[in-house]
Amino acid sequence: MKQAVAKAAIAHIPAGCIVGVGTGSTANFFIEELGHIKQRIGGAVASSEASAQRLKHLGIPVLDLNSVDELPVYVDGADEITRNLAMIKGGGGALTREKIVAAVARKFVCITDQSKLVDMLGRFPLPLEVLPMARAQVAREITRLGGQPLLRQGFTTDNGNIILDVHHLQIPDPVAFESMLNQIVGVVTNGLFARRGADVLLLGTADGVMTLTAGRHDTKVS
Ligand code: 5RP
Repeated sequence: MKQAVAKAAIAHIPAGCIVGVGTGSTANFFIEELGHIKQRIGGAVASSEASAQRLKHLGIPVLDLNSVDELPVYVDGADEITRNLAMIKGGGGALTREKIVAAVARKFVCITDQSKLVDMLGRFPLPLEVLPMARAQVAREITRLGGQPLLRQGFTTDNGNIILDVHHLQIPDPVAFESMLNQIVGVVTNGLFARRGADVLLLGTADGVMTLTAGRHDTKVS
């Protein structure tokens, strides 16, 4: 299913454009697919060092986001996604760069298998990228909000920070919760992608790839 949605995402890449590329096992399938059409794109902006390495290995030029005027499309996976296309991301720890690239992109195409589709976000532990000196303070704040923060052991982000994974959350209003988490001093980024959710979801199912579009209820299976 991950491979099928990665293949389907290629139809969303305009000829000659710079492509925003996400991180994770589904994004890795997409990188493989990009390798097949590398003559047709201008290059890529990567959301992690790991994805940048994979892209370079396939001979795809990797550009600095600051040198790019526009990014027509960003393709990435998710850990959970609702039918409104709000997501939890950051299972791979790349949430900050993912959120930055997604903010620049005109269109966010999310590629997942059907196990990631949920009615309410929160069963997957919500990652927070946190400055190391703020770890205990952020953990106290999160506990006050009813979450259980656990330090991701032995993990440092590409930006030199730590990850707290917050368990036991139910998030009925992801836009409001994302904004609230943004106010906690020491949190670099939270893994809610709701204020800027996906525009299109390519969902891998046993019956084929289903397309869900933000704000619309029509779906198509191909
Ligand atoms: C990495 C991410 C990934 O998109 C998310 O963890 C999904 O990964 P996978 O495709 O391996 O299931 O947010 O930070």
